[in-house]
Amino acid sequence: MKTMSSQNSQNKQSSAAYIKAENVSKQFSSNGSVLSVLENISLDVKAGEILAIVGRSGSGKTTLLNIISSLEKTTTGEISAHGSVGYVPQKDLLLPWRTLIGNILLPAEIQKRNLKTSVIKARDLLQKNGLAQFEKSYPSEISGGMRQKVSLMRTLVQDSDIVLFDEPFSAIDFDARLQLVKEIRSYIVSAQKVAIFVTHNIEEAIAISDKLVVFSERPAKIVYQTDINIHDEYRDPVNVRKSKDFQELFERIWKLMSKQI
Ligand SMILES: Nc1ncnc2c1ncn2[C@@H]1O[C@H](COP(=O)(O)OP(=O)(O)OP(=O)(O)O)[C@@H](O)[C@H]1O
Ligand SMILES: [Mg+2]
Repeated sequence: MKTMSSQNSQNKQSSAAYIKAENVSKQFSSNGSVLSVLENISLDVKAGEILAIVGRSGSGKTTLLNIISSLEKTTTGEISAHGSVGYVPQKDLLLPWRTLIGNILLPAEIQKRNLKTSVIKARDLLQKNGLAQFEKSYPSEISGGMRQKVSLMRTLVQDSDIVLFDEPFSAIDFDARLQLVKEIRSYIVSAQKVAIFVTHNIEEAIAISDKLVVFSERPAKIVYQTDINIHDEYRDPVNVRKSKDFQELFERIWKLMSKQI
């Protein structure tokens, strides 16, 4: 079961956003067979916090984000997501017949929000990410990494209370990633958003998050969880290696993930 309170809180500025999952399990049934994907997942993320999820391919990370964003239902257990939800999906899902700016503005158009404000935000993001000259290009005319950045911008322009990131930087080059980790973290913390960030990159997960969970192989259970307390100056995937306790934490997570090979 899933409860969504105050879906339209963008306009209401109600109480702080959060996500809370209690004993969430998920099974898919097809052709008479049952696939268990999530088993007793409990977690909570508060305003101003980023939860990172790492886990092997096929463990159920995207499935959990789909449940939080109401694309899927839980089989048992409960999820409460308080606040409007924005989702950066694993595939960029840009519409080929719309220009880049047209894609970025799509959610604002659907929700009939003030387009002028969204256009200003969209142009600012395109500029900051070196894509201003491609504003009127179509997705087929740009690279995979550029498309992934546009998909990220499309979600950030919505300014949702909750933001779900599903491997948002997987196609983006290393330099841009370093910058994006810092920028996204500073946006979520300063605007008191709630975020879940799925990645296969352990350094990236540690650098960006306040809390980190490791999923086991399918059916995913939480096999490790920890708070991440790192000074702001170390919060990118290169400098994070210099932070206290990094090595120990990295090895612990790495062992948990490689044990399952
Ligand atoms: N709609 C669905 N119907 C049936 N099975 C599904 C469905 N969605 C996902 N699955 C299965 O659930 C399992 C978990 O998939 P999911 O996409 O959540 O994994 P993931 O952890 O995100 O993997 P990756 O790191 O490769 O993105 C997979 O075995 C997948 O085939
Ligand atoms: Mg996935």
